[in-house]
Amino acid sequence: MNYISVTLLACILPLAYAGKVLVFPVDGSHWVNMKILIEELHTRGHNVTVLRASNSWHIKETSPFYISITVYDDGGIEALVDTFTRQILVNRREKLSFWAHLMLISKSGKAIEEMHQNQLAMMGEIFENKTLMDLILDAKYDLVLTDPAFGSGVFLAHRLGLPLVLNARWTMHGEAHFEIAPSPLSYVPIPGMELTDKMTFGQRVLNVMGYIFQHIHKARFVYPHYHSFCTKYFGDEIQYVSLLQNADIWLMRNDFIFEFPRPTMPNIVYMGAFQCKPAKPLPGDLQEFVQNSQEHGLIVMSLGTLFRYLPQDITEEIAAAFAKLPQKVIWRHTGPRPANIGNNTLLVDWLPQNDLLGHPHTKVFITHGGTNGIQEAIYHGVPILGLPLVFDQPDNLSRMKVKGTAKIVDVAELDRTSFSQALEEVLYNTSYRQNMGRLSRLHHDQPMKPLDRAVFWIEFVMRNGGAPHLRTQSFRMSWIAYHSLDVIFTLLIISAMFCFLIYLLIRYLCLKIVFKKKIKSD
Ligand SMILES: *[C@@H]1O[C@H](CO)[C@@H](O)[C@H](O)[C@H]1NC(C)=O
Ligand SMILES: *[C@@H]1O[C@H](CO)[C@@H](O)[C@H](O)[C@H]1NC(C)=O
Ligand SMILES: *[C@@H]1O[C@H](CO)[C@@H](O)[C@H](O)[C@H]1NC(C)=O
Ligand SMILES: *[C@@H]1O[C@H](CO)[C@@H](O)[C@H](O)[C@H]1NC(C)=O
Ligand SMILES: *[C@@H]1O[C@H](CO)[C@@H](O)[C@H](O)[C@H]1NC(C)=O
Repeated sequence: MNYISVTLLACILPLAYAGKVLVFPVDGSHWVNMKILIEELHTRGHNVTVLRASNSWHIKETSPFYISITVYDDGGIEALVDTFTRQILVNRREKLSFWAHLMLISKSGKAIEEMHQNQLAMMGEIFENKTLMDLILDAKYDLVLTDPAFGSGVFLAHRLGLPLVLNARWTMHGEAHFEIAPSPLSYVPIPGMELTDKMTFGQRVLNVMGYIFQHIHKARFVYPHYHSFCTKYFGDEIQYVSLLQNADIWLMRNDFIFEFPRPTMPNIVYMGAFQCKPAKPLPGDLQEFVQNSQEHGLIVMSLGTLFRYLPQDITEEIAAAFAKLPQKVIWRHTGPRPANIGNNTLLVDWLPQNDLLGHPHTKVFITHGGTNGIQEAIYHGVPILGLPLVFDQPDNLSRMKVKGTAKIVDVAELDRTSFSQALEEVLYNTSYRQNMGRLSRLHHDQPMKPLDRAVFWIEFVMRNGGAPHLRTQSFRMSWIAYHSLDVIFTLLIISAMFCFLIYLLIRYLCLKIVFKKKIKSD
């Protein structure tokens, strides 16, 4: 009897908490992180449904972790990201003229604009398909989980009237904090400029100018499309930005180990390094290679898949620098094999990055600063040699450099001497390892694992039907009210009037005295 009730309880308990989550992800590298959250939600007994495009790049139709609803073509993000990446890489390598640089920014702006347009077009088709909308409504989801790098998931949550949880680092406008938290430009650097929280006057000017430039860029390429979508489906009264700011919880893929200290908000939950796990044993062939590195240690290099675009002369310079070292090197390399590869270097198509970084022999991680790389290096306390290429990678790595945990090599100026010099500095100057070790200890010294924290807050939103008590009222306010300009103006007028009254009074009194004196003297 007892046994039965215990098993019954065990069956009922997970069910009691089981919720239904509708996920509208962003394809490409952002999906890597979303998938980790989905797997964890699934493991805890929640039902996850993913809306995916029919021509999706990385999001599979079938998975043991989620059910998918395949919808319309999203215009193909892959090709756009590809051209975009190539263009920026060309720029980084070939020090373009100022004019060519502007042309490039405008061109990449167009690629981004096209992605936003395609995403919105897809959401429009979803909204207009009544069968599909009824299907989604009937499923009675508890919340929408989306990545706000494209804003259409935010519209979906509003249309369905569901609580919204964001898995964010970027919104369609820029860094997510700038959307909801006060962000004084005097000590909060805008990402992309490689600035820190200690800025000189000149850097603060740059920071403000960068901010204005980003605004103009967004006003040209992003705002109009979201604005017209919002007007079309929700009417004139609703501003799409306030829909975004209205989100219940912002799960941020960073934290203050990585980020400079800055103001935050009650509904921001930091889950930096949520994807990191303790290292598992290595597969057999790698294990043997790594074991042989006992004496001098191991170097792990992974530049993701982007590196196949880089010219062969660079990979040969790198290979030559490696060949001179006593350390063993594991290099994830998908392009053509460099001819001069040393016999201490193992080329692989894929490597278990987390497990290698967690291996005690690993001395240095050479990375482009791509998704997860920096976080995994912090988690395992491995210093970094950075070769930033595109997107937010230069900025991410510059943060590590400021903290004394990384050295950065510019791809445009890379040759075997500069590369070996930088590499040897990170290998033999112990300050890099010490600083990274400190970050790693700080990261591990927290009451709850980041992934558990993220899932707790998703479940919190399911249990309580949202988290409006954590939302500040700023999203309802006009720009004027937010900055109290109306109040300042009113107070100024009142004090001006008061001063004027005093002036009149004094004038009146003076005149009276003069007048009296005149009468007396007369
Ligand atoms: C979760 O999804 C599975 C598969 O579609 C379904 O069989 C099950 O009933 C769902 N559970 C809940 C609680 O909705
Ligand atoms: C609407 O959605 C349903 C369900 O996904 C799909 O079967 C149907 O083809 C769609 N209708 C149109 C007009 O695309
Ligand atoms: C390669 O390894 C062998 C021993 O295994 C060694 O004798 C040889 O000098 C190495 N070659 C180079 C180029 O380091
Ligand atoms: C930069 O760092 C943030 C925060 O750790 C991370 O979410 C993002 O994926 C990184 N960017 C790239 C290109 O890896
Ligand atoms: C190691 O690097 C740090 C920071 O770059 C520097 O201040 C220090 O002088 C270096 N130490 C040696 C022995 O080169």
